Amino acid sequence: MKILVTGACGFIGSNFIHYLLDSHPEDNYTIVDKLTYAGDIHNLDDIKEKLDIRIADITDEKTMEELFYKKDFDIVVNMAAETHVDRSFIDEEPFFRTNVLGTTNLIKLAKKYHVRRFVQISTDEVYGDLALDSDYRYKETDRLAPSNPYSISKAMADLLCLSLSKGSELELIITRSTNNYGPYQYPEKLIPLAIDRLLSDKKIPVYGDGRNMRDWIYVLDNVRAIDLLMRKGTPGIYNIAYGHPISNLELLTDLLRSFDKDESYITFVKDRKVHDLRYALDVSKIESLGFDAKITLKEGLKKTVDWYKAHRSYLEVKKDRAYNDYLKKVYEE
Ligand code: NAD
Ligand code: TYD
Repeated sequence: MKILVTGACGFIGSNFIHYLLDSHPEDNYTIVDKLTYAGDIHNLDDIKEKLDIRIADITDEKTMEELFYKKDFDIVVNMAAETHVDRSFIDEEPFFRTNVLGTTNLIKLAKKYHVRRFVQISTDEVYGDLALDSDYRYKETDRLAPSNPYSISKAMADLLCLSLSKGSELELIITRSTNNYGPYQYPEKLIPLAIDRLLSDKKIPVYGDGRNMRDWIYVLDNVRAIDLLMRKGTPGIYNIAYGHPISNLELLTDLLRSFDKDESYITFVKDRKVHDLRYALDVSKIESLGFDAKITLKEGLKKTVDWYKAHRSYLEVKKDRAYNDYLKKVYEE
């Protein structure tokens, strides 16, 4: 099969491509990535000979059309996106350009060039949040109620994919997963940021009172789920989760323990402008296909900490001037 993966130099994308080459080396993989601050071509250094790598922007209609025309893809997996909520409050424009217009461009080309299946990688954030004491879990059929520019742009992309694929032969799969963590994640997201701080013996900045809850899934579990759906899922929307939402403070307490540090390494900072309280998903639909998340939070955190310890240079490379300017904007405004 000929498979296009966009955003493959990012966090989930590079884990996904490594997984695909291990599990299905017989397929033919093309990747497209614009290499924004979050994308790193070196994430694919060990496998680059096995890939057709295109440095390009998914919003670029001409370049994308030439690629679709030439390659005759069977499957397109769209992971390219602007992904960080805090950045979306600073400047929402790239979020709408890439996540909405870029996705629209790809789905139109997928229809025009008779791609069989389009997999749109979405997020649990499109449902909006729940009260901290709620035991509700969002179902795939629930209405969307996103709250920040990032999640709004992702919800718009989901709705456009659903609308534009309707009545066509294109098989559309939308995956909505909870927060991922693991190797190759840019250190602006909570877990790699916290690991980076602890490795440098610095405190971790916690927004608000730290009671906000997330359901952390180890990236390889999400990648396995995407692969399963890409190959065997009936078209439709699928939630993907680990299944145990915990507060940011609980998560960080576990992380601190693995560094033999105590709560004095937590510093409470100004809250996010709009900070979703709790995300939780009903995963019975994907479970009915035989999928469940295998890696416990304890195991996943250990693997992640070990990976960053063994790849300190990954964190160092990221800490350029732009990264430091960004941190100043978020934490000192
Ligand atoms: P990431 O920010 O690590 O990587 C995004 C990648 O997309 C980067 O390599 C970047 O260079 C590329 N990109 C950005 N704009 C582009 C453009 N216009 N054209 C081509 N490439 C472009 O993101 P991630 O965490 O790997 O997330 C991947 C997907 O999964 C996203 O769609 C995101 O919304 C979704 N998702 C992520 C999480 C999570 O916890 N990380 C959870 C649920 C869903
Ligand atoms: P993040 O990793 O940015 O993912 P998302 O906002 O998509 O869930 O943040 C996870 C949680 O951690 C979220 O509740 C915000 C919080 N957080 C902090 O408390 N401090 C930080 O420095 C960051 C980056 C996030």
